[in-house]
Amino acid sequence: MAKMAASVVAESGEDVFRKMFKFYKRREPPPDLKEVTDFSSGAASGGKIVPLKLDPAAVSDEDAARVGLHPVRDWRAFGLQGYPGFIFISNPFLRGSQAFWVRQCLKTYPQKPNVCNLDMHMSPCDTQDIWARSAQALRSPPSEKRQPKTLLERLRWVTLGYHYNWDTKTYSANSYTPFPPDLHMLSSRITAACGFPGFRSEAAILNYYRSDSSLGIHVDESELDHSRPLLSLSFGQSAIFLLGGSQRQDPPTAMFMHSGDVMLMSGPSRLLYHAVPRILPPPRQHAAFLDELSCSCALPTANVLEPVSQEDWDVCSRYIQSSRVNMTVRQVLGPGQSFPEDLSSAHQTDDKGRTVGYQDDENSGKRKRTCSDPVGTVET
Ligand code: OGA
Ligand code: MN
Repeated sequence: MAKMAASVVAESGEDVFRKMFKFYKRREPPPDLKEVTDFSSGAASGGKIVPLKLDPAAVSDEDAARVGLHPVRDWRAFGLQGYPGFIFISNPFLRGSQAFWVRQCLKTYPQKPNVCNLDMHMSPCDTQDIWARSAQALRSPPSEKRQPKTLLERLRWVTLGYHYNWDTKTYSANSYTPFPPDLHMLSSRITAACGFPGFRSEAAILNYYRSDSSLGIHVDESELDHSRPLLSLSFGQSAIFLLGGSQRQDPPTAMFMHSGDVMLMSGPSRLLYHAVPRILPPPRQHAAFLDELSCSCALPTANVLEPVSQEDWDVCSRYIQSSRVNMTVRQVLGPGQSFPEDLSSAHQTDDKGRTVGYQDDENSGKRKRTCSDPVGTVET
């Protein structure tokens, strides 16, 4: 296989991953999707899907329900042969509860003090209330006249906790705001059920995809501790996700991610190349999230999920009819670990004033986005 991949590179100057990325991104003619693994139906798995039993004792049924999840014993969890540490959970959300998380992604998390792409070229007062400035236009029926895009439609990413710096590809101690407790609660319960108790949600990147967006080939390696898993949650439109190897030459596996699907990259799969070449309308059986609100009254009471008002849902449902939101939650630091710059004061300097004795930056890593199509963030 490696040999074949090398010859492909030699011939075309392109690695196998990039070829596959372009294959699925292509519009005309549309790509054949028969090789795309669908965990929800077991289709096109080539026998690679392995059902997994997660630990039902790690999270009580009540604690699961409080964040909108089915009891762990009912989750449909899978591994993928050849990808140890990769866990796919096919929509573990209770009916009606995705609406809450979608509303958080669109209305709550883009608010200050969190950081978003619009802050890069707009003043804080102009990005103060993205929701309020967009909701009215999104609620009204699309007019014949082409309206300027609302702020919500121009939202591409939001960062939480330690805010990822896209230029330096690092996190730092001096760019931190409190991580949303509800999202931490959701994340810690899912990771605990997957065998990672004590997960600390310290940073998240929320990506907002329109129907023609994609996310380039990259490895998430900016976090300082790679022994902690990376958790990914998707809502709205479906996507094709490509999971590769540790080398660009390794041919990736293509899989669908539907609304509510959860993915964990841990252990040997934590640092694999991956990408999202395409957003797709959900197949019928996955489109139920669109009318989910009708049953949010059925949600358990003592939970962190406040009901979503009809008014808010009108905006959310309109938005996700053509968009996808993905949250990746990360633990940045290992237990007792701190950022190199924090340590500098605690360490001595040599006679030239250089800091000595702190951890080498070698494995602090970079969040590499190496695909030349979309660099950095979700590209439309
Ligand atoms: C990321 C990422 C994947 C997705 O943000 O690092 O890989 O499904 N997202 O959007
Ligand atoms: Mn990633």
